[in-house]
Amino acid sequence: MHFAYAPRKTSNPPPYAARSPKSQYLRRSRLQLLGLVAAGALFSIWLLSTLFRSSSARKIPAGTPPVVLVTTIDRRASPASIANILDNRKDYAFRHGYATFFANTSDYDLGVPPAPDSWSKVPALRHAMTLYPHSAFFFYLSQNALIMNPSLSLERHVLGPARLESLMIVDKPVVPPDSVIKTFSHLKGDRINLVITQDGEGLSQESFILRRGNWAKYFLDSWFDPLYRSYNFQKAEGHALEHLVQWHGTVLAKLALIPQRTINSYSRDSSNNKDGTYHEGDFVANFHGCDRDGNRNCEKEMAPLMTRWREIRDSGTRRV
Ligand SMILES: *[C@@H]1O[C@H](CO)[C@@H](O)[C@H](O)[C@H]1NC(C)=O
Repeated sequence: MHFAYAPRKTSNPPPYAARSPKSQYLRRSRLQLLGLVAAGALFSIWLLSTLFRSSSARKIPAGTPPVVLVTTIDRRASPASIANILDNRKDYAFRHGYATFFANTSDYDLGVPPAPDSWSKVPALRHAMTLYPHSAFFFYLSQNALIMNPSLSLERHVLGPARLESLMIVDKPVVPPDSVIKTFSHLKGDRINLVITQDGEGLSQESFILRRGNWAKYFLDSWFDPLYRSYNFQKAEGHALEHLVQWHGTVLAKLALIPQRTINSYSRDSSNNKDGTYHEGDFVANFHGCDRDGNRNCEKEMAPLMTRWREIRDSGTRRV
């Protein structure tokens, strides 16, 4: 056996070894070199961590609302009813330190010829995200819905990862009753970017929550694709959304379906979903369809629960 190189000498000779002046000089210069290298390494680590922090994990400015509540307003409703809706949203947001964002359905260019007004929720959410670039969540709630239990915070009621995992409906046809595409199992609550409900007929886009980020931008831009807008889906952006979640695994993989009454109880029988009907204490009452049926009148229908909401608001149950 033949070794080409002698084993390296240790740079820390045993203490009992005789030290010649030469070896002491060598030792000192080595130590100096080592010190320089260590200082350089520490500096690089500091520099990298500073650069890294400023680019990826952006600092969230103090006072940033964690949630922005978005409602699009159709100005054809009466001014009084619009004022009530805005009050309902502002009161809720104020209690929890959230922000509100209101846009008119006529504010956005919906194409030529224009797609139905209901599409405006998509650019409105995009718009809200540019105004609140640090807020974590964007909660879209239709003009035809009332927040009836303002004490519930979205974090505790829906979004806390453990809470969300307990709510998620897994392995269920994402579009009822029998889509072959089913919601994923094993999703983690803190990886969910879209929280949404179904009624008996389809996915509801009248109450849903989006987590800020590149995924949300991609999702909204895909949803707003001109092809979808001009396609004349019978239920406009609702059917476009159903198409999107069934055909784009990237969307389904970030979607949590939760029980309808968590954020979207219907004021009347929920079409084919008997568990979807509003009960006192529920978070939201949605007067689903009141604006589509010529025999219904949203303002009249909402009046009794609007009165009830004012009682709840003024009763001082300002907790949870
Ligand atoms: C919406 O329309 C109303 C009435 O026309 C107007 O006063 C208000 O400023 C508009 N809001 C926005 C955000 O454009």
